[in-house]
Amino acid sequence: MMRHLLSTQDLSLDDALLVLDTAEYMATVADRSVKKLPTLRGRTVVNLFFEDSTRTRTSFELAAKRLSADVINFSVRGSSVSKGESLKDTAQTLEAMGADAVVCRHPASGAPHRLAAWVRGSVLNAGDGTHEHPTQALLDAFTIRRRLGRIEGLSVTIVGDVLHSRVARSNVWLLSTLGAAVTVVAPPTLVPVGVEQWPVTVSYDLDAVLPGSDVVMMLRVQRERMTAAFFPTEREYARRYGLDADRLAAMPLSALVMHPGPMVRGMEIASDVADSTRSTVVEQVANGVSVRMAVLYLLLGGTREVP
Ligand code: NCD
Repeated sequence: MMRHLLSTQDLSLDDALLVLDTAEYMATVADRSVKKLPTLRGRTVVNLFFEDSTRTRTSFELAAKRLSADVINFSVRGSSVSKGESLKDTAQTLEAMGADAVVCRHPASGAPHRLAAWVRGSVLNAGDGTHEHPTQALLDAFTIRRRLGRIEGLSVTIVGDVLHSRVARSNVWLLSTLGAAVTVVAPPTLVPVGVEQWPVTVSYDLDAVLPGSDVVMMLRVQRERMTAAFFPTEREYARRYGLDADRLAAMPLSALVMHPGPMVRGMEIASDVADSTRSTVVEQVANGVSVRMAVLYLLLGGTREVP
């Protein structure tokens, strides 16, 4: 296993499967009355968040605590955070604290890569700009595999603001490594330049791809990253790219609906679809803890022999 988890683009098939298999074991811990393993006792995990996030931060925090690590939450916000210099200063502080793992979320793509060069511990990318969010993709893959029994050969459709989505990028790389056929669906303005280098099919017509999809993964429209108007109105967006009950009915009966959260109900996904039994939204959150336990365990020196 590698020392850092910075992206899924460079994650090998063997390592991806090792994380998923280890996460299966970690999930059994969640079913016990004492939800704790002694494995990372005496190790320090720092949550370094330069961008707001409750879901991902608490998920990493719970994962580290279930492995008995000491956890420090280090939240940095404000005007100086986008400057490389302040990141380096923070890295030096973390070194002085003896961090064994640094979980980093940053608004700038590539920030965790920089950090990895400056600290001795493992760096886990918890979302960097529009680049990657590897543990989200791993928990999505874990969720798909648990529900459908496999990933290889499945058709996965990723819908929405692909341009600004690190979740989409990490899923595209990971799911294609795991043998799925990935289609991205978005308005032409929200399809990234260079998408032809990705291992995906691009479509602008959601209704055309739904009947052939085993999994439909909806993305949040990332307003905070939009510097221009990418679509006319919310209503128009929902009409063409939102997942409502009619579209759910057009999907195969066994097909899953996924969303990384936070959801904008009524826009990208209708409330009744988000709450339907076909939706894995709540499972994704629970699985996130198991997958992050697996990643922390493996990066901090765990072996195939789980405790
Ligand atoms: C995602 C993120 O931050 O990239 N959310 C998350 O990790 N909880 C998706 C999103 O914000 O849309």
